[in-house]
Amino acid sequence: MEHLDSKNYLEIINFRHACKIFDEKKKIKSSDFQFILEAGRLSPSSLGLEQWDFIVVQNPVMREKIKEKSWGQTQITTCSHLVVVLAKISELKSGSEYIDKMIDRFPFKSPEERAAKEEFYKTKLAQKLQDNDEIIFQWAHEQCLFAALNMMNAAASIGVDSCPMEGFEREEVGKILGIDPLKHRVAIIVPFGYRLNEQPPKYRRDMSDVVKWIE
Ligand SMILES: Cc1cc2nc3c(=O)[nH]c(=O)nc-3n(C[C@H](O)[C@H](O)[C@H](O)COP(=O)(O)O)c2cc1C
Repeated sequence: MEHLDSKNYLEIINFRHACKIFDEKKKIKSSDFQFILEAGRLSPSSLGLEQWDFIVVQNPVMREKIKEKSWGQTQITTCSHLVVVLAKISELKSGSEYIDKMIDRFPFKSPEERAAKEEFYKTKLAQKLQDNDEIIFQWAHEQCLFAALNMMNAAASIGVDSCPMEGFEREEVGKILGIDPLKHRVAIIVPFGYRLNEQPPKYRRDMSDVVKWIE
């Protein structure tokens, strides 16, 4: 692959901002939206377990209900496409069918090699997560944020705006979506579309304040 132009990449990063209101008349082309979803699907995840599922909510009645439980934020109803990123819970418990399925994707040379991999996952997950829903959610949620950011940056690269959103009542939004709380929790909501207003200036701390070098 040829190297991307770093200047262009920073333009993409700067283009992305938390868009507060979208132009309801502008819809994202289906192929562009597939590209955004693909960037989410290809995101990195701890142990490669892809701890997320995505729901695309286009139903206006459901969007209105979600908005009511999201501090009335207008991004929910004005965006072209609304993505809700769900964090997996029960499927991340050691020994689950999902984990088995994920392990089976590896090209094993022998049954022993597969058994060793399975043992590694079982031990790691049991140590790390203790089959505790709160710990599992915290871990899965972190992975979901990577997927969300990948989608937002991909969107920015094709001139599509977005907004990362955690200003919502998690359980209530989960109920509206009809998700089983033992299986999933809502991690983050990301609306995509086209900005109605100009992008505000970006405020960030200085590099010297953010970065300390140890040499
Ligand atoms: C995890 C997370 C949750 C956020 N939740 C909201 C939200 O509910 N509503 C909103 O308008 N912005 C939300 N933001 C956007 C931030 O306020 C915004 O990213 C920050 O102020 C920097 O501005 P910029 O993204 O426009 O550069 C969220 C950002 C992150 C990373």
